[in-house]
Formats: sequence, structure tokens, C-alpha cells
Amino acid sequence: MIKVENGYFKIDTPNTTYLFKVNPLGILEHIYYGKKIPSSKDYSFIEEQAKYGGGTLTGDNEYAIYEDCASLEASSSKRGDSRETFLNLSFDSNDREFVLKYKAYRISNGVNLDTLPSSHDKAQTLSVILEDENRGIEVTLNYSVFEDTDVIVRNSSIKNVGKSLIKIERIMSSSFDMIDGDFTLVTLNGAWAKERQINEAPLAMGITKVSSNYGFSSAQTNPFTILKKKETTFVGGEAYGFNLLYSGNHMTTYERTMYHKVRVMAGINDYSFSWTLNPNAVFEAPEATLCYSYQGINKLSHEYHQFVRNHIIRSEFKDKEKPILINNWEGTYFNFTEESLLGIAKKAKEVGIEMLVLDDGWFGKRNSDSTSLGDWYPNLEKLPEGIKGLSEKVHSLGLKFGLWFEPEMISPDSDLYRSHPEWAIKHKSYVPLLSRNQLVLDLTNEEVVKYIGDVVSSLIKDAKLDYVKWDCNRNIGDYYNENLDNQEEFLHRYMLGFYKLVKHVTEECPNVLFESCSAGGNRADLGLLCYMPQFWCSDNSDQVSRMMIQEGTLLCYPQCCIGAHVSSSLSHQTLRTATYDNKFNVACIGAFGYELDLTKLNERELQAIKDQITWFKKHRKLLQLGDFYQIKSFYTDNTQEFVIVSSDKSEAMYFVGNKVFMPYACPTIIKPIELNNEYVYEVSSRAQYQNALLGKGEMCESSEWTILGETFMNAGIRLPYEWLSGNGPEKRIMEDFGSRLYYIEKKEA
Ligand code: DGJ
Repeated sequence: MIKVENGYFKIDTPNTTYLFKVNPLGILEHIYYGKKIPSSKDYSFIEEQAKYGGGTLTGDNEYAIYEDCASLEASSSKRGDSRETFLNLSFDSNDREFVLKYKAYRISNGVNLDTLPSSHDKAQTLSVILEDENRGIEVTLNYSVFEDTDVIVRNSSIKNVGKSLIKIERIMSSSFDMIDGDFTLVTLNGAWAKERQINEAPLAMGITKVSSNYGFSSAQTNPFTILKKKETTFVGGEAYGFNLLYSGNHMTTYERTMYHKVRVMAGINDYSFSWTLNPNAVFEAPEATLCYSYQGINKLSHEYHQFVRNHIIRSEFKDKEKPILINNWEGTYFNFTEESLLGIAKKAKEVGIEMLVLDDGWFGKRNSDSTSLGDWYPNLEKLPEGIKGLSEKVHSLGLKFGLWFEPEMISPDSDLYRSHPEWAIKHKSYVPLLSRNQLVLDLTNEEVVKYIGDVVSSLIKDAKLDYVKWDCNRNIGDYYNENLDNQEEFLHRYMLGFYKLVKHVTEECPNVLFESCSAGGNRADLGLLCYMPQFWCSDNSDQVSRMMIQEGTLLCYPQCCIGAHVSSSLSHQTLRTATYDNKFNVACIGAFGYELDLTKLNERELQAIKDQITWFKKHRKLLQLGDFYQIKSFYTDNTQEFVIVSSDKSEAMYFVGNKVFMPYACPTIIKPIELNNEYVYEVSSRAQYQNALLGKGEMCESSEWTILGETFMNAGIRLPYEWLSGNGPEKRIMEDFGSRLYYIEKKEA
């Protein structure tokens, strides 16, 4: 996969090639990143002509380049390149100049960082070592490739091989100069209850910075971004994806120059970051990912989904179907007792749910969000036999049992705070700001990491929990620990402490399913997915909002990672009412569950849920682990459509979600992709439970069409269109924000 010949470094993935060279001056020049090309003795047909451009000239009569215009793989600082560099270092008296020259390379198997989350399994890694002897620095650029995905993993590290301190003011994990500048930038932005909304804009001249400064990867800006061509669609055209394995402040910058190049850099956000590097010390930057597709956005997403499933998630739940859970949060909020929870659990068992999850409010004196974070012992007024007793009772009903924690947080009104006020993050000169009445524990302090890790893991083991929801409901405000000489190290040190904590707890409890959560989906990133195989996607489970949130999320993260629940018919976030079936249709593609008080539903509603679950269990593997392809976008079309196809193409699920019903609107013709041309498929629509609920229809999965794969994919099937009339059938296909699922199954010959 990696070839080094005649000074060229050629990195091949199954469908792409990434190429750079060491030029005669010892500078790394980027040559090409795109569709796979065969090896060649030289690549002059695509290489930059030496001396293209203007400005200061680096080199001699034999070979010279204008660094400002060249495509560089690793830029030096100051000198001839006026663009921003991936490494900002400050030596004595703020001198910042350095020149990185090639020293050596090595190829090894595997990738693994010492201090940070890392992709894993069957990688081949190229490490290119650069140096500046004057400055005493050695910089290593790592490139890892895998046999089964086009995603390339990069990272960089720097070693101080000199005798003086060096201050790192920026170290990007990856940087390269694309040889073309004309792109549309796609980013995922949002806020609480509207995470990962898709935004697109032409890439402007100058620097565009896509970043988070919230202390966490954040709902405001997810680290995943795409550069695509104007003409790129879901199924065709070029697209490049970038992401980072980091849960803290991140940034990706795109510097588009007048020479029609784009320097793309990704790494830790350099705002409020610096690091003091002592002699002999090494700093490693997080892993960053790159991926190229010439077959549109779907192929890019597909590669990322494969990468996440095969090289990010390592828990034993990696390839498993996830249990259907019921979470009590929106059903009861803080107001529950053991009895009321067991009431929900019994109903849950009756309808076929597999796990009860007890959310916030079970510990200390927590009857509201104003108290007790840090006091991880049960509130015996609510739970007389504690968590252990409740867990036993839930297990004896034949259900799994899971519990909510918010380990990184501390309430000022808690026993933990009263005994350790110094464990909360605080600036020495300012009153700490509260958010949701809470402070953040200082995870730069090893004692805190150890204490909280031990408390949480012993409780999980003692109560024999099957699942943990790991929440985090506020951002970090102050970046301060009085013991640090350099306060700009604080946040990265916090992240190192955080990763140590989650590694410890998840390794102590290898059979437990962990779901990360952060005030909804505020921390959906590849870093945390290395430890917890799924994240709560959003507190907003209104089906319309979810169509938008999930479409954005699915651009990079596969269905099995996305926590998605059916909540009560009246959405608590939007106050919109929807049928349980429309909610189900949207939620059932993810790590699926319910979030309501089942004891408050009537028989008809319970029956609808029971039928959903029976149906879901038949199709769960396909829904959670099948290959996802977007067909129409909620952001640009009147329907949202996608298909999930099994790897052998013997079955698929087609989703159609409507926006607003209009008479004589464009017909809805479903045209799946990625089926087998030769197979004959039977297509059935999921039962029209809505109609059943209204007493107007039958609950059944009826086979509606039999069709050849090729015909289905080319001509499609036109959905029937009916409305209320004096004589007609009393149903209307696709009510406002309604949705349908069509199961497609290969017909046995
Ligand atoms: C925020 C989460 O997103 C919710 O699901 C719930 O767990 C609350 N926190 C509990 O405080």
C-alpha cells in the first residue's frame, strides 16, 4: 500500500493515491491526491514546474522553487512561504524561523498513539522524519493506510532534540496543499437540539477556519468537513473528507490562495493553546483523517462508515445488534421511584423492549439539576434498595439494565465539593461561572481522574450494569490550574486526563455498552468513539428535526453509532405532535430505543409500539449494520430519501420522509441504488400503523410490488397517491412530515 521509490512516497488505498516527494532541496512537495493511479518512474506530468510563481526563491541553479506558490507537504516557517504553517514554534526571544528538511523514513505495521485515541487494526504506516539541526527539532509525519478503506490517517509529532525549551504555539495533525482551489465547503454546525445541520458555501479566497472553542468538539461545529466540487452529487463527482480523532477544541483551516491552491490543515485549535517542550520531550498531535471519493458524497460517507466500524470502534459491540432500550428521562425526568421504574420496566418487557435505562436523578439528593453531581451513591428515598437492588429486580424481569452518569462534573452543592472544592476548575482571580448549576472537575489533576474512575467503575461492576450513558452537560469555561506554568496547556491536559478516565472505565468494564452523550449530541467525534461505540445524537427526537440532524450526522458516522429514540407523541423540544409510527420510521435506523412513560400510553398505542418492535427485531441487523446511501436530501428536496442495503444485496430498506403535502406535487418515485441488477425483489411497505391507530387501516407488512433490480433502480416505483374523497379510500400517502419504510427483499428463485 505504501511505496517509496526515487524520492517519491506513494500511498495507495483501494481507490485513491496520495503522492509526495522529497525534492533535491530536501523539502517535501505534495504532488497528487485523488483517484488511484499506477506507479510510474517519474510523475513530471502532474508535478508542479519548478520555479512556478514568484516571491523569494529557495534553491540554486540546479533546482529552485518559489515556496509561496509551491504545493508543500510540510511547510517551514517564515522564509519564503507566506501562508500559515502547520507548526508554529517560538524559540529564544520569539524567534520563529525554522526550516524542515527531510532526514529519513520508515514503514511499520499498525498505528498507535501513546496518549491519545487512535485508529487500530491492520494498518501500514509510513513515518517521514524531518529535521532542523539549527533548531534542534525533529518532526515526524505519519501516514497510515488500511486494506479495506480509502480513509488515510495522519498525525504529526515533534521532538525537542536540542538543549533549550521550545514553545509549540500550533501543531497541526495534517497539512497539505491541494493543487486546485475551486471547491464548495460543507460543514456540520448547530446547537443544542439542532446538532450537525448541513451548511454549504463556496470556498472563499483567504483563510476559512472551521473550529470549536467550547472545550469540547461541540454541537456548534463538528470536526468533520467536506470539500467537494460544485457539480458533485450523492452518486457522482469529487469530494474530500476531513475529520479528527479529538474531543477537545479543534480546527480545520482552508487557505485558498491566488495561485488556486488550498492549504488544508487539521488539528488542535491553536486558540488558547501552547505547549512547552523540554529538551528530549515529544509532543504528539491527535490523528486526523483524509478521504477522497470520485463517486460522490455517498462513497465518501461509505468509506467513513467502514472506517469507523472497522478501525475506530473496538468494543465488543462493534458488529453486534444493539439492545432496544427504554430510557425514563422524558417519561419522568427527576420524578420517579423504584416502583414507578419497575412499572415502566414491566410494560417494556410486555412490548418486547430489551433494556431499561435509568437516567439522571438517581444519586445524592438530586431531585433537580441544582445538586449532587459527584455524589455517585443512590438516593435511598427514591430507590430503597439502591442501584444494586433495582438492577437485580430489572434483571429478574428479563431485561438488561443501564444507568446514567455525568462523571466529569461536580455540583457546588455536593458532598464531593464540600470535601474537595479544589477539584473543580476555577481561576484564582474570578468566580467560576456555573452552567446548569454545575462546575467541571479538573481532569488535569491525576488524583481526580483516579478517584472518579474508581468510583464509576466499581459502581458499574457492583450493580452488574449492562449499559452506561456518559453525559456531559456543560462546556469548559475557565482554562486554569494554578499548578501549571503554562496555562495554555490546560485544555489539552484536560483532554489527556479525560481520555485516561474513559480508557480506564471502559477497559475495566469490557462487556458494558457505553453511550456518550453531551447535553444531547455535543460530543459526537471519532476520538470518543474509540472508547464508546455510540453517542446520543440529540435531545431533540421530534421526527422533523431528527431528519435534518441525522442526515448531517450520517455524512460521516454510521447508523450503529447514532442513539435514536421514539419519544412521546408531543415532542418536548418542538411541541410538535406526531404519530408514534412517524417517529419510529425516523428513529429505527440507529441505536434504537424509546424515551417516554409507557405506563401512560393507551392499549392502542402500546400495541403500535409492540408491532414496531416485532418488525424492528426482524430488520435490526440490516438497519444498524447495512450500507447507507442517501438519495434525496431534506435540505434541498421535498422528500428525504435513503436506502440501507445489506452487503450481499439480498435485502434493503428504503426510507421516504415527506416535508409538506401538496396536491399534484411531483410524484414520489422511489429508486434505490446499489441493489443487484439481476435479482428480482419483493417490495413491501411497513404497516400503516397511523391508520390503524385512527381505526382506518390494517396493521400488516403487505407485499406490494415484485420487480427486477435493474428496473427498480432505473425506472423506480411510483408511490400511490390518494386523498379523502366522497368515495375514496380514507388514507393519504405522505401526510405533512409523514414517512414510510419499504422493505426490499430478494425473491428466492
Ligand atoms: C442531557 C441529555 O442529553 C439527556 O438525554 C438527559 O440525560 C439529561 N442530560 C439529564 O440531565
